[in-house]
Amino acid sequence: MSVDRNIARVTATTAVHAGRIVTNPTPPIDLSATYHLPGVDAGGESYAELIAGRGPTEGGLVYQRMWNPTTAGFEQALAELEGLPEAVSFGSGMAAISACLLAATAVPAARGKRHIVAVRPIYGGTDGLLSKGTLGTQVSWVDDVAGIAPALAARPDTALVVVETPANPTARLLDLDAVAAACGEVPYLVDSTFATPVLQQPARHGATLVVHSATKYIGGHCDVLGGVVATTEEWAARLRDIRIQTGALLHPLAGYLLHRGLQTLPLRIKRASESAQSLAEWLAAHPAVERVHYPGLTGGDPDGLVGPDRQMLLPGAMMAFEMRGGYAAAATVAENVRLILHAASLGGAESLITHPASLSHRNVHPDARPDAGLLRFSVGLEDAPDLIADLEAAFAKL
Ligand SMILES: Cc1ncc(COP(=O)(O)O)c(C=O)c1O
Repeated sequence: MSVDRNIARVTATTAVHAGRIVTNPTPPIDLSATYHLPGVDAGGESYAELIAGRGPTEGGLVYQRMWNPTTAGFEQALAELEGLPEAVSFGSGMAAISACLLAATAVPAARGKRHIVAVRPIYGGTDGLLSKGTLGTQVSWVDDVAGIAPALAARPDTALVVVETPANPTARLLDLDAVAAACGEVPYLVDSTFATPVLQQPARHGATLVVHSATKYIGGHCDVLGGVVATTEEWAARLRDIRIQTGALLHPLAGYLLHRGLQTLPLRIKRASESAQSLAEWLAAHPAVERVHYPGLTGGDPDGLVGPDRQMLLPGAMMAFEMRGGYAAAATVAENVRLILHAASLGGAESLITHPASLSHRNVHPDARPDAGLLRFSVGLEDAPDLIADLEAAFAKL
């Protein structure tokens, strides 16, 4: 892959200015569904460029499903932060992942390869998409990085390796250099939603496709759905072509909000990660808690992947904890928090708690489903002592 792995870390300054090519503080919101074409030949030429997955020409932007300058600004910014040449946005994280699966398996360049190797745990929606084979793919599941090379050796028709780090729901980290070594020539996709480009830039470790559910930290306020893939020029062209064909595009208003979200992303993720560390320590010391899964705790980062010059700058703001009292205790805590919201999703300003076995991971195969006593916790931007007090009150109901 022709990507420079010597990528600069995201700074507050780059996050504020990336992709803002205008002199006004906010980029224009262009809601046009269609555009005037200056000539038949010129319009046709622009159309040809767009369906080839490239940008428009002087012949016009043609049609919103083909190109939109507001979402293009967000894409340019995200690509810059990930240190990759391009990015392509979609209507949700699942639309982005679906497009990646199609780009890897359902295009002539795939030469008929339809097999995927994927590491569990992974977000339940992705698990379901791969397990059901809805997009015509087949999957071999493995439990860790060590499983990738044997799975690839067994299936030379593998088109893509799919990993998630930190993984949903347990925040388990995978060593991306080890993933790259195991993949060899097979491209790999990283769902980097939990980390954001502020904490980790998978292209430094050879990833070809870096996916985000932008609904989460990038939006940051639980008020917009979106997905985005940072990648090479070649893969971006494939993804744009697929976006045009499937219509899974990001709305320009959502593109505007996500671009705005990038400006405060470093501040938000660093602050939430700081609070998460104290919450994780408090939970780990609580007698009702069996185990806390958090990379910032002793034993939570066995491969030494967290640190200023490591794969991940900080341990992040996502964790999971297992209650000694199993399902009943987990349900009691989820139903008795008041400040923390019992709700799906993550990465918002407000802290959210979820029971993955009954929600996000409900349809995962029983052998791989999260423990019934496990709660996933997205630490938000509230003051940590208030969150601890809220959990204390909920734990008192046990
Ligand atoms: C890690 C991860 N990837 C992808 C998705 C799917 O994103 P969306 O809900 O934006 O489709 C989610 C949603 O929870 C997620 O947590």
